[in-house]
Amino acid sequence: MTDRIQTRVLTVDPAVPEPQIIAEAAAVIRAGGLVAFPTETVYGLGASALDEQAVARIFHAKERPATDPIIAHIADLRQLDVLARDVPLAAHALARRFWPGPLTLVVLRRPIVPANLSAGRATVAVRMPAHPVALALIAASGVPIAAPSANRFSRPSPTTAAHVLDDLDGRIDLVLDGGSTHIGVESSVVDLTVDPPVLLRPGGVTITALRQVLPELTFAPRYVATDGEALPAPGMLLRHYAPNAPLTVVAGDHAAALERIRAEAQAAINAGLRVGVLAFDEDAPALTDLPVRIVQMGPAANPEVVAQRLFAALRAIEQTGVDLILARDPGQEGLSLTIRDRLVRAAEGRIIVAGQ
Ligand code: TXA
Ligand code: MG
Repeated sequence: MTDRIQTRVLTVDPAVPEPQIIAEAAAVIRAGGLVAFPTETVYGLGASALDEQAVARIFHAKERPATDPIIAHIADLRQLDVLARDVPLAAHALARRFWPGPLTLVVLRRPIVPANLSAGRATVAVRMPAHPVALALIAASGVPIAAPSANRFSRPSPTTAAHVLDDLDGRIDLVLDGGSTHIGVESSVVDLTVDPPVLLRPGGVTITALRQVLPELTFAPRYVATDGEALPAPGMLLRHYAPNAPLTVVAGDHAAALERIRAEAQAAINAGLRVGVLAFDEDAPALTDLPVRIVQMGPAANPEVVAQRLFAALRAIEQTGVDLILARDPGQEGLSLTIRDRLVRAAEGRIIVAGQ
């Protein structure tokens, strides 16, 4: 990264965004600049989706590999037809049910879409976010907005403006600070260009809800360990959010997994290592007698709360300076499948099963 730029921060009302703030941010977008803004999932790093140079700046600021395509955000259904051709009926059915909301649809792109946005593919990913600031910004800009999560590549997605600044201060023009995001994990990504359609990334909409509209939707998590080999689909890199201390996910039934976490922690402590636990609220009392750093993620029984806190918890635990991190497998029910996906990626695939 060479030239540092001045990153401005403007506070915006997340429910009723001030028109003059939005106008200022939209002017930056139209001029080809970079604006981080809140969505209902995570903060996005926005630029005009129709401006190849502006999109290139996103890749540069994030240090994102050019092989990973970016989602175009729209505020109006008509913008879907600007970006995409031969939009299948299933896209309209899903859009009717879930937009605006945490769902991204991969469809065939039109030539107007810059090649770098799609990483050279014949497709484009489109989402209509459910956040007043995001919708107002897109509308005022007059163009779809390209926006990956506003983190540096391989860092947890940002759920506050402070997280954005931690990763991107000096690299982007503006941050709209609209407080914490509500959902906390990214959108679900559905590829409608293949038959049957496939869930590429579990996210804010559960697979059960998606299958109510699209019963044939398939999902088989496949993770790819290295950056070197060709990815079967973009976004499948295992090392996606790697905390700076190695994380291990401990699976198995609740009591056995908790006991295994205690045993792993004790063994590491005996070896002179500092241990952190990303703990569900229910589990924390069973760990307080050990000299471990505990960051609570919320109640296991309430995955909506855990999702909201997950990325902040990952950032918080690595800041404690521990040598290794342990977390219990959240299971695969509803939104827990999404939480599990993010934890397994943060763990670079390290899962141990208690009792085995
Ligand atoms: O909730 C979200 O989706 C957030 C907010 C800002 O909208 N955005 C986000 O963007 O998470 P990003 O770039 O961090 O993740 C986008 C995912 C990646 O896994 C990418 O590979 C996939 O979507 N993707 C984008 N375009 C695609 C395409 N044309 N085909 C297949 N996958 C695509
Ligand atoms: Mg991301």
